[in-house]
Amino acid sequence: MRSIVVANWKMNPATLKDAKKLFELTKKVAEESPNVSIIVAPPALYFRELRASYKKKRVAFAVQHAHFEATGSHTGEISIAQAADVGATHVIIGHAERRARGESDAEVRLKVATALKEHLVPILCVGESRRSNSGEHFTLVAQQLREGLADVQPAKVSKILIAYEPVWAIGGAKAMSARDMHEMAIFIRKTVVEAKGKEAMNIKILYGGSIDETNARGMLDEGDVVGLLVGRASTDLKKFTALVDALN
Ligand code: PGA
Repeated sequence: MRSIVVANWKMNPATLKDAKKLFELTKKVAEESPNVSIIVAPPALYFRELRASYKKKRVAFAVQHAHFEATGSHTGEISIAQAADVGATHVIIGHAERRARGESDAEVRLKVATALKEHLVPILCVGESRRSNSGEHFTLVAQQLREGLADVQPAKVSKILIAYEPVWAIGGAKAMSARDMHEMAIFIRKTVVEAKGKEAMNIKILYGGSIDETNARGMLDEGDVVGLLVGRASTDLKKFTALVDALN
């Protein structure tokens, strides 16, 4: 199976011109890497132009967040339906940086269900802010999963990508160890199977948080994940090329 790389550009780069340059590189890397599926998530303002310029199939497109209602009085928002209309195939839901700005489990739940209805792949992000020896991070992740998937029928669970992103590793200096990821992957699978039944056994899990060209391969080999959600390294031309190379 191809490994998955979600390139979450966040609020980068500063200009459309630079975004086009970065996208040129992203395309090139995708063409040269048959064993990696790249999903690019540019800022909403650049999305349409980049999407419209691309006729091939090697790169898929995600929006970084979107509202569950199709239209309405929500200043500054974009909707999942609008994202689908301009060619998005994926939508990131519940990213830690959105949760920190108030996105609740209840909203995440509505968004996951709406995305599936619009035939977009939800990339459902979960992860704890801190860890202690008491293991409460497992409780929190289980709660985020149960809530986020509450309206998903068991037969649809396999369409979802679960991105486990420990908040303390996002934008940090160091990723979580692949071994700890492996443990968490087992826990995630168990939680989703308990909630949705055996069909969830094959749920696709990604890891995100301080991934770069030095740790990507190890995380895929030993972390029990099928892909990576990459922030900073996805907007650095050199690092991104080396990262995808390492997986390919
Ligand atoms: P990072 O971000 O790779 O810059 O740590 C990851 C993320 O937020 O998804």
